[in-house]
Amino acid sequence: MAPLFLLLLLPALDAARTKPNVVLLMADDLGIGDPGCYGNKTLRTPNIDRLAREGVKLTQHLVPTPLCTPSRAAFMTGRYPVRSGMASRSQVGVFLFTACSGGLPSSEVTFAQLLKDRGYSTALVGKWHVGVHCHNKTDFCHHPLRHGFESFYGISTTNMRDCKPGAGTVFSRAFRWLVFVPLQALGVTLLMLGALRFLGLVLVPPALFILLALLAAAILLLFLAFLRYFRPLNCFLMRNFDVVQRPFTYHNLTQGLVDEATQFIQRNTQTPFLLFLSFLQVHTALFSSPAFTNRSHHGAYGDAAEEMDWAVGRILDALDRLGLANDTLVYFTSDHGAHVEEVTPRGEVHGGSNGMFRGGKANTWEGGIRVPGLVRWPGVLRPGLEVDEPTSTMDVFPTLAALAGAPLPRDRIIDGRDLMPLLRGEIARSEHEFLFHYCNSYLNAVRWHPKNSTSIWKAFYFTPNFSPPGSNGCHDTHVCLCHGRHVTRHDPPLLFDLSRDPRELTPLTPATEPRFHAVLRAMAQAAQRHKDTVPRHVTNQLSMGHLLWKPWLQL
Ligand SMILES: *[C@@H]1O[C@H](CO)[C@@H](O)[C@H](O)[C@H]1NC(C)=O
Ligand SMILES: *[C@@H]1O[C@H](CO)[C@@H](O)[C@H](O)[C@H]1NC(C)=O
Ligand SMILES: *[C@@H]1O[C@H](CO)[C@@H](O)[C@H](O)[C@H]1NC(C)=O
Ligand SMILES: *[C@@H]1O[C@H](CO)[C@@H](O)[C@H](O)[C@H]1NC(C)=O
Ligand SMILES: *[C@@H]1O[C@H](CO)[C@@H](O)[C@H](O)[C@H]1NC(C)=O
Ligand SMILES: *[C@@H]1O[C@H](CO)[C@@H](O)[C@H](O)[C@H]1NC(C)=O
Repeated sequence: MAPLFLLLLLPALDAARTKPNVVLLMADDLGIGDPGCYGNKTLRTPNIDRLAREGVKLTQHLVPTPLCTPSRAAFMTGRYPVRSGMASRSQVGVFLFTACSGGLPSSEVTFAQLLKDRGYSTALVGKWHVGVHCHNKTDFCHHPLRHGFESFYGISTTNMRDCKPGAGTVFSRAFRWLVFVPLQALGVTLLMLGALRFLGLVLVPPALFILLALLAAAILLLFLAFLRYFRPLNCFLMRNFDVVQRPFTYHNLTQGLVDEATQFIQRNTQTPFLLFLSFLQVHTALFSSPAFTNRSHHGAYGDAAEEMDWAVGRILDALDRLGLANDTLVYFTSDHGAHVEEVTPRGEVHGGSNGMFRGGKANTWEGGIRVPGLVRWPGVLRPGLEVDEPTSTMDVFPTLAALAGAPLPRDRIIDGRDLMPLLRGEIARSEHEFLFHYCNSYLNAVRWHPKNSTSIWKAFYFTPNFSPPGSNGCHDTHVCLCHGRHVTRHDPPLLFDLSRDPRELTPLTPATEPRFHAVLRAMAQAAQRHKDTVPRHVTNQLSMGHLLWKPWLQL
């Protein structure tokens, strides 16, 4: 009797041991050149560095697409964002208004949902940015609580320059075309008509003058109303479905997130939990509490990054204090590379560092897609291990599913792969032979790590036109765009071997690389096989209709 009883018990014990708590830490816009453990000597990130020392450091950790909204959708679902309609076909690739109607479809399954179904307590603290409403302001159809999180405290969209008085605007391009150019045109027309009438050359009816003047006044009024009401309408903190602070205050924002996160951990010492702490830092508008302001060697950006690192430390301290560290997998990453175009009119650098890598946020040069990736699980993962193989933020989904003993959804393609065998050192090669790098909904580049070779081939079908030419970003448009005159197409594709040229400086040619055509052929075939798996008729959640501000959805 006893042995049989034990046999029945053993798998249960084993499952309990391998069902760790999970803490996911995601920075916003942090570059791979920022943390000390990735080579920065002047920005102080002792707590992030501690994760690297006590855990595994991924040096080729990649996001599938270099913008917040689609990257986060992919992270939480383990799928390329084109599969869920979370990839834009226009110039705007992210949600800019809380009262928009697009978002992560309810048919998508997040890791929070999987873990909740396996008995985990789940919480999101911080930034969401994948939609709130569909049809009316009570449906909350895209809200975190509809995607497996049992509690939510944070902001539903994103921290933006426009949320902080004096920090500038992300709408300057829109203002130019919707406000300033029309106002100028109307002004010039009025003047010309006035002159013609004065000279008696044309009989201009007074009604036309009044109409044009009214039109100009209306445009001006709408513009002023937008400036006045943007902050209260978009920059607020929520607890679950309720608005709790409008507009949010920056001076204690990080402290608020940390308090919320540590209280959640404290409440769940007896149950497995999933905490997703999604920082608002280091996105612009940059902010830090008085204790961190003017302290770093890198201005407001450094202050914000160092405060975020402090927050990471507070979470690790809480795990230590409660004796949970050994039962908790902690993961740290960024949603994409640093935003290199973030320089204020006064020349202050408000974007981070992508180290030696080219490009940054909003393009698929390595600087845009290669992000920090740290995983700590004491007693299970070897401290100080470095993994140079290609891995993806999409891998978190199947990894957590496996740890929680949750079967993967069978009715859809999951693009991520379980990371544990690689992290544990059980296998040496990544299961990602091919990875696809997207710019919005456009397949921008393909990466191939052939099974029998050390090469990391990367082929670009197009590259963004940097402006001014010769710079390392798209300063004229503030972010690089993905199509039309903003890109240069390449046929044959631009080919690099990142194992020899990680900075992507010298494209290969048939003269410098004898396998040139064979490699490109294999990659083109893989790209075609991949494209064939992407559904053509999925609803575009980032269409203009979905992106626009809808007064009836305003909370
Ligand atoms: C909001 O939409 C949901 C789902 O479409 C519907 O069930 C609900 O009745 C609507 N609420 C209001 C107040 O119209
Ligand atoms: C932050 O400060 C504001 C007042 O400026 C206060 O209303 C809010 O409760 C504070 N938040 C936290 C988390 O302490
Ligand atoms: C930081 O420095 C700026 C400029 O010197 C100053 O205006 C501001 O008051 C300082 N802030 C703090 C919290 O020390
Ligand atoms: C360290 O980070 C700061 C802030 O992003 C950046 O200015 C600096 O260039 C970085 N240093 C290195 C060596 O990357
Ligand atoms: C946690 O795990 C480490 C490494 O296996 C071990 O040295 C340490 O004693 C453990 N701590 C606790 C509190 O069990
Ligand atoms: C790797 O395998 C492919 C076929 O799968 C073969 O064409 C190629 O020559 C091999 N390369 C090396 C370096 O062995």
